[in-house]
Amino acid sequence: MAITIQHTVSLLPYNTFGIDVKAAHFVSVQTEDDMRTALRSGISPVLVLGGGSNILFTRDVTGLIIKNDISHIRVVREFKNRAWVDTGAGVQWHALVTWAVENNLGGLENMSLIPGTVGAAPVQNIGAYGVELKDVFVSLKAMNTATGQIRSFSLKECAFGYRDSVFKRELKGKYIILSVRVSLTTHRHKLNLSYGDIGKTLSEAGINQPGIRDISEAVCQIRRSKLPDPAEIGNCGSFFKNPETDLTVLNNIRKTHPDVPSYPLPDGRVKIPAGWLIEQCGWKGKRVGNTGSYARQALVLVNYGGATGEEVKNLSDQIITSVQNTFGITLEREVNIM
Ligand code: EPU
Repeated sequence: MAITIQHTVSLLPYNTFGIDVKAAHFVSVQTEDDMRTALRSGISPVLVLGGGSNILFTRDVTGLIIKNDISHIRVVREFKNRAWVDTGAGVQWHALVTWAVENNLGGLENMSLIPGTVGAAPVQNIGAYGVELKDVFVSLKAMNTATGQIRSFSLKECAFGYRDSVFKRELKGKYIILSVRVSLTTHRHKLNLSYGDIGKTLSEAGINQPGIRDISEAVCQIRRSKLPDPAEIGNCGSFFKNPETDLTVLNNIRKTHPDVPSYPLPDGRVKIPAGWLIEQCGWKGKRVGNTGSYARQALVLVNYGGATGEEVKNLSDQIITSVQNTFGITLEREVNIM
């Protein structure tokens, strides 16, 4: 099938922040061959868009936006209590989670309701409520943007870290993810209830022996109660990463804020929730023009309607400066700024 490149297209429907910028050229691709054809159109630069849930547009885009709409979900192998599932990069992540829960396949339920597409998931190694993509990941298929060749990446080759992978670093812009293979359990599911809120939500619902569906529903309930729905209020989830610092930094903060929350890391350092730091600096629920820090989770910046990307970025700069001045910690953005 031939591809159709459109010109001067509003990106408003294609980014969850709801920023109204234009792309000079735009194409939706449904197959690997179409992806190769799009790459060879000669228009540059190229930006591949998944769900648009981790990007803040601050200006019009001059090159070609390729909307990755490669969509399939199939079981490719079953053995012992495992099923390997291949999913096209264009599938909505939560659609894959729902499909897995419906088919009694375990491993994705803690990552319910994360916005974005399957193809974007490995780029920042998405995670929530004690589970990350890397915990179920087998491999992925990606196309080299320069040559159009397809290659496979193993778990090791993806070099996953906390909201991090090789696709955010050494290979940034060099590959387009086409499909992702995950390994799910068909029975004897390994449930992960370690994250406090999940256990609490389940016991409040009187569920003592939860299954994967119960966990998925609990996670959806928690997320809906804390995080704004992009269909109602534009946002990209966590705007910043939770900073990792030395113990000395934490101990310093403890002198003035004895109840600062923190999570120990394997290397002896600690992670401090960015939402807490931002809240302490007085930003939580504060509105600045058409943007602000969300009242129920300070780490999420929102578009109340009509905000420009510049406005949101400026607010994030102010927050970074304020946290830096108060705590001596430099917050890093999780969202990509374009
Ligand atoms: N907190 C505050 N004030 C706030 C928000 C949080 O004090 O406004 C403190 C609380 O003490 C709370 C702690 O921060 O106990 C942790 O908060 P929460 O459980 O909401 O998680 P988080 O660390 O803020 C991370 C991920 C989320 C993910 C949740 C649950 C990052 C950057 N964010 O947030 O991921 O859903 O854990 O696993 O790691 C995303 O990446 O877009 C995202 C939403």
